[in-house]
Amino acid sequence: MSADEDKYPAESGRRRFVKGVVGGSGLAAVGMTGAVGINSATTSPGEGGGSTSAMAIENTAGPAPRGMPQIPIEITDDGYLKGVWPEVQEVDEGGRTVEVAQMQLGGQTYSSEWFQYCGVESYQGIVPSYDSENFFRSTASAAYEWQQEALEAGERLNIDMFENYETWGNGIGEAGLGKPASGRWRSEDTENTIPIQVIRSPIIEEIANGNTDADQAIVDWLSASTEEGFIAWLNKCTHFCCVPGYKQAESSASFGGADGVYCACHQSVYNPFSIVETLFVARPRPE
Ligand code: FES
Repeated sequence: MSADEDKYPAESGRRRFVKGVVGGSGLAAVGMTGAVGINSATTSPGEGGGSTSAMAIENTAGPAPRGMPQIPIEITDDGYLKGVWPEVQEVDEGGRTVEVAQMQLGGQTYSSEWFQYCGVESYQGIVPSYDSENFFRSTASAAYEWQQEALEAGERLNIDMFENYETWGNGIGEAGLGKPASGRWRSEDTENTIPIQVIRSPIIEEIANGNTDADQAIVDWLSASTEEGFIAWLNKCTHFCCVPGYKQAESSASFGGADGVYCACHQSVYNPFSIVETLFVARPRPE
């Protein structure tokens, strides 16, 4: 399914009454939008999905219905950045046994279902048992000059590349908030690219270290899911599935997004330094 077909983010459990409907076009025909409605008694036509609570970078403006889900980070001994992918578990969902990559992390249940929206649920890299080394790799068309100069497409991101993270700027918005890179994850040898973005930020470091007035639950979560100030998320706008960017568009300033993650499609803005719990209905993976 292409992003374009995915016109209605699954915000309602009611779609699950529609037998056999898996793709976004079927959902569009049903005409479903609106508030979250959960009916856990219904069965899903695919694998997993349903009511999901994810930790996300907050949506602060524009039509996006919610934030974009975070990807917990780990850094290898030689400095390479990876996204955490949990062990596969079998869980009971609505009377069916489904496979989910799931773990307890920083007081939250981190699950592969966080990424099951916008068609990503049909990507090979999101299959819980898909074997990947989980490194974050540079994208072919990196939006940042530093990244174009330092990295070939497919090269792994390394902490050494972010040493100037406390001062970096590119003329868009304020400098010194953090240094970004755009990349992909769990996408090698697959047909679809899972777009991700990372920022190494002194703000994230401060929150994770408990030096702000953030809620303890957020501190617990960020100290477990970020490392050395690095935070990552699935970079798919929850509105109509475009790929947004942190400090990538001059025009973002006109919409209050110069220091945020801005989606140029319909001007949604996300704040990568504000982490919130978000409830949504994850789409089932196709069987
Ligand atoms: S704001 Fe519409 S796709 Fe991002």
